Amino acid sequence: MKLTVIGGGSSYTPELLDGLFSRLEQIPVSEVWMMDRDERRLGINAAFARRMAEKNGNPFTVHATTDMRAAVKDAKYVITQIRVGQMQARINDEKLGLKYGIVGQETTGVGGFACALRTIPRILEVAHAMEELAPQGFLLNFTNPAGINTEAVIKHSKIRTVGLCNVPIGIIMDVLKHTGGEVSDLELDYVGLNHLAWVRKFVFQGNDITQTVIEKFIENAAEEWEVEATRENMITAIRRLNMIVNPYLQYYYSTDTVLDTLKTKECTRGEEVVKVEESLFEKYQDVELKEKPEELSKRGGAHYSTAAFHLVDAIENNRGNRQIVCCRNNGAVPTFDDDVAVEIPAIIGDNGAAGIPQARPELPIRGLMQLVKAYESLTVEAAVKGDRTAAFNAMLLHPLMPDANGCKALLEELLEINRPHLQGTFF
Ligand code: G6P
Repeated sequence: MKLTVIGGGSSYTPELLDGLFSRLEQIPVSEVWMMDRDERRLGINAAFARRMAEKNGNPFTVHATTDMRAAVKDAKYVITQIRVGQMQARINDEKLGLKYGIVGQETTGVGGFACALRTIPRILEVAHAMEELAPQGFLLNFTNPAGINTEAVIKHSKIRTVGLCNVPIGIIMDVLKHTGGEVSDLELDYVGLNHLAWVRKFVFQGNDITQTVIEKFIENAAEEWEVEATRENMITAIRRLNMIVNPYLQYYYSTDTVLDTLKTKECTRGEEVVKVEESLFEKYQDVELKEKPEELSKRGGAHYSTAAFHLVDAIENNRGNRQIVCCRNNGAVPTFDDDVAVEIPAIIGDNGAAGIPQARPELPIRGLMQLVKAYESLTVEAAVKGDRTAAFNAMLLHPLMPDANGCKALLEELLEINRPHLQGTFF
């Protein structure tokens, strides 16, 4: 069985492969293909992957290529983890946001928007290549902004797809640290969009433990939100809603404090990651290194491989278990269109993910969800058609964007900066 990683040159690739070795009995991968346009990083990762494979008895062969079509041909699973324009594009977004006094984070606000415009056409290229060369395969998308990219594939390709984020599994793992037990012991009433979600209820081995989880979460809130003013806003939101909130909701519930913090930082998160990656790739080149280095935990992708291979295992073995993923709504979340991507619990089996019907989101959360969903759908349309009107409308709607004339100027500047990555669309 062939498993392909598009964006195999990512510094996350060793984390992903590390998770595969312990699951090969359930997931009998015989070939791992890594594709990237960055030949240097691809070469380093492929050599490291071969050493990791050797240490584990060479259960699969490792192939490295810059040819996306060769990489996806006959693959059963294609994992996308790409960053169009690499880290510099993320840094540009972050700085553009700061210039306009708004959030430029890689998935939220203008950063997520610019990232989506760059990324959607590339993800769809992969999906369309799969339609031709691997029609039975699954496209598992980790690429940010994960929800928007997943919606693009749902709407514009026949290929089966599931979007994945490490936040839901991270919340589950945190709760299990206190309760003990297995992932399957815990059920979350989790509803929302990628990086915009709420957990309304936690049920552990049949018992409702929501209030205990909320209290523990608040007790440990400093681990998530170091800055006191931000933490206090988030705690207020959690208490009043009586729900656990996805940490990315800080950009909405504590916008001013988050912006104040960003403004005082010496460098952006993208610039920090550049430094972490420099040292990671230096380590990956060490011919003695045969397992993922500790330093990888400085990236935000904790539990990435756990989420990825839970999902692959459930599809491969038709487990029919419950996992929180980004999938086609199909009526699961009332009041949302069928063909949009939502992040909810789904039943995972050999046909992919089927969203489990959810209780109607309460107005205080539904309102924001509707607004951001409409923005996301307009962003997909803008990216697919290269349509400036849809792009402007998406920005105008977004609660973290500037006023109308600000949006107009910001869109022009954003398109100009990203011209090399937009390949003809919009121009
Ligand atoms: C979290 C998010 C991911 C994101 C990552 C960023 O894990 O859920 O969507 O990619 O953080 O980590 P980084 O190290 O790139 O800042």
